[in-house]
Amino acid sequence: MVYKKVTSYFKEHYNSTPIVIKAPGRINLIGEHTDYNEGLVLPASIEKGIYFAVSSTEIDSICIETFLTQPEKIEFKLNGKHEKYNCFWGNYFKAIIEILVSENYPLKGMNCVFGGDIPIGSGLSSSAALCCGFIYAITKVSEKDLSREKIALIAQKAEHKIGLNCGLMDQYAVLFGKKGNALFLDCKDLSHQFIPINLEGYSWVLINSNIKHNLAVDSEYNKRRISCENIVREVQQNKPEINSLRDVTLKDVQNITEHSDAIDIKRAKYVIEENERVLQMMKALTKGDAEGVGNILKEGHWAMSTQYEITTSELDALVKLGEGLEGVMGSRMMGGGFGGCTINLIQTTRLESSISSILEAYKNKTTIDAEYYHLAIDDGVKMVQ
Ligand code: GLA
Repeated sequence: MVYKKVTSYFKEHYNSTPIVIKAPGRINLIGEHTDYNEGLVLPASIEKGIYFAVSSTEIDSICIETFLTQPEKIEFKLNGKHEKYNCFWGNYFKAIIEILVSENYPLKGMNCVFGGDIPIGSGLSSSAALCCGFIYAITKVSEKDLSREKIALIAQKAEHKIGLNCGLMDQYAVLFGKKGNALFLDCKDLSHQFIPINLEGYSWVLINSNIKHNLAVDSEYNKRRISCENIVREVQQNKPEINSLRDVTLKDVQNITEHSDAIDIKRAKYVIEENERVLQMMKALTKGDAEGVGNILKEGHWAMSTQYEITTSELDALVKLGEGLEGVMGSRMMGGGFGGCTINLIQTTRLESSISSILEAYKNKTTIDAEYYHLAIDDGVKMVQ
């Protein structure tokens, strides 16, 4: 278990007993690419996570070490200075430390060992877990608390610094998640409520296409955001009071169709309809309507495939294979796109047979071995014993 591995490694190498923090990954039931449009999302924090073993030191630096992918270590001085490093994760810590320094946060010396079991680039938001968990760890060691809202904003700022102009869904899911529940988050005012997602007789499963994405270096994610902002500007010509696509209706979009870019129009329609799907999903979950839930998943997927154009042929294949199987109620790609996992709702009695049919057919079609994980919803960032 990662928790044990990280803790015993820390004890062995740093001669002290650490505080251990878990930051979970996240799934998203529906509401994709709506967060940066002040829209609605329905994510949840999961059992897979990143564990940070940390303790304070008298030395004026933050030493961070991981051994999971390959052994790597970076030392940041408390003013943010550091030796050259090669690992990608170092950029996140660098960005966070720089932000905290610029905000005059009273950083203290700290040793940190981290490791986790969130597959990287699989749409489960390992980077939000990395950032939110690390910031939370700093607040524990430095003994100056920051609210979870503030931690989310710093983590988002770090992503922006690295190059991904993301919204706040991932950070909120990672920080505010609650065992057994999804988080219905309104990104306009950041109000949220919990909704249980267990449907009797059905199971949630993730299937990893094993096509890895790196949203921070691919610009496709940011291009989608720009398309949305273009449409907002166009609509503002007639309706100056609007701020985001959240305030835009399909009728508004229709009114500007003639003189706007056709691709931008297609993207905006997707976002407006996706918000609607989140509301429908809330209704279906509340009613315990598994068929309804499955249909919304499928609809959401094909909208991402044809309108927002963020899926891949492999992810489309996974969803299509599920559509041909009786026990599979529905599935969709999750996260920023261009790779990663699908989330699937499957009849529990047909669970094992459905999964093996999908994996086998996927292998035949793509020559890729997909993996699956049973979904367990855990709490947001917390200290573990
Ligand atoms: C990534 C981003 C989120 C969100 C999703 C798509 O995970 O970090 O802010 O936009 O993509 O829903």
